[in-house]
Amino acid sequence: VIETGVAAGVLTDILACPGCQGRLASDAGGFRCERCAARYPVEDGIPVFLTGRTAGQEGERAFRDRLASRQVAGSAATLLETVGHHHCMRVMARRAARFAARFTPGQWILDLGIGWGWHWRSRVGPRVFGVDMSLGNLRLARRLLGPGRDDVALVCADAAALPLRSSAVSGAWSVQVLQHMPAGVLERAIAELDRVMADEGRIEISNLNPGLFQRAAYHLAGRRLHLRGAVGEMELTRRSAAEWRAVWRAFRPGRARVVTGYSELFFHPDLHVRPRPYPAALERALAAARPVAGLFARQVDVVVTCGGRD
Ligand SMILES: C[S@@+](CC[C@H](N)C(=O)[O-])C[C@H]1O[C@@H](n2cnc3c(N)ncnc32)[C@H](O)[C@@H]1O
Ligand SMILES: [Zn+2]
Repeated sequence: VIETGVAAGVLTDILACPGCQGRLASDAGGFRCERCAARYPVEDGIPVFLTGRTAGQEGERAFRDRLASRQVAGSAATLLETVGHHHCMRVMARRAARFAARFTPGQWILDLGIGWGWHWRSRVGPRVFGVDMSLGNLRLARRLLGPGRDDVALVCADAAALPLRSSAVSGAWSVQVLQHMPAGVLERAIAELDRVMADEGRIEISNLNPGLFQRAAYHLAGRRLHLRGAVGEMELTRRSAAEWRAVWRAFRPGRARVVTGYSELFFHPDLHVRPRPYPAALERALAAARPVAGLFARQVDVVVTCGGRD
């Protein structure tokens, strides 16, 4: 039934009930919690572990599923092309590869809000546990990644209630996802990361930067750069590096180390700026000069080296 590519037996080793964290058994119908008897279906080959708790983001989930349904006829190549309009694939491919290279094939990394799965289109060392609340996006991820990917599990779940055992993953990666979470969801998602992340794990997240350049460019165009609150059916909060450091301050206090940086410096699709060829070497040189990069970078990156849990 499960078409995640990862064998059900391998998956049940790390899965837990998102409601009570009991062990899950797989059967013909999907998964069943051995503690609270909750059942989780497999829809169209993708296990669904939503517990009705995405309440804070129902609007976004519906919106993502609707957007995804417009791509149902798209080939993997068309999907990748669309991704290229919204993300600087050159910069992100390098970052994803460097992140993944820190882990061994036996380890799991979590991609929180995996979307269309494009960060893992080339095989990386560790196994990827890709979580998204949008089943529509996960179906597209499966198409983009192609058949035979026994290294990527696609799972429909809420970041605020992960279907994972404690300490199940060695790393977590998340691109432009936490920026959409209402405060309460963000708090629960970070608590879940604390629970599922092994001691000494590593978290890398990227989100949209409220750069001075973006604000000025919008201002000149007679628009206002959206900083926080609702945009259509979803939330979007642009936090500065200092604001992200404040968000992570309470994470494994005294043991975790939080470092911020910037990426996609010259890539501003909303302003129709997508230089080709992309000046990647210049980006790396400037990204080292952090305060300057922060004036115009598109993304703020946060790296959390976790330390052990209490
Ligand atoms: C802007 S997209 C980014 C997708 C992907 N990370 C990428 O880099 O292309 C945000 C994704 O996060 C997912 N998402 C947002 N909040 C979530 C939550 N609480 N739990 C699971 N997925 C979530 C959305 O469904 C959507 O697929
Ligand atoms: Zn349970």
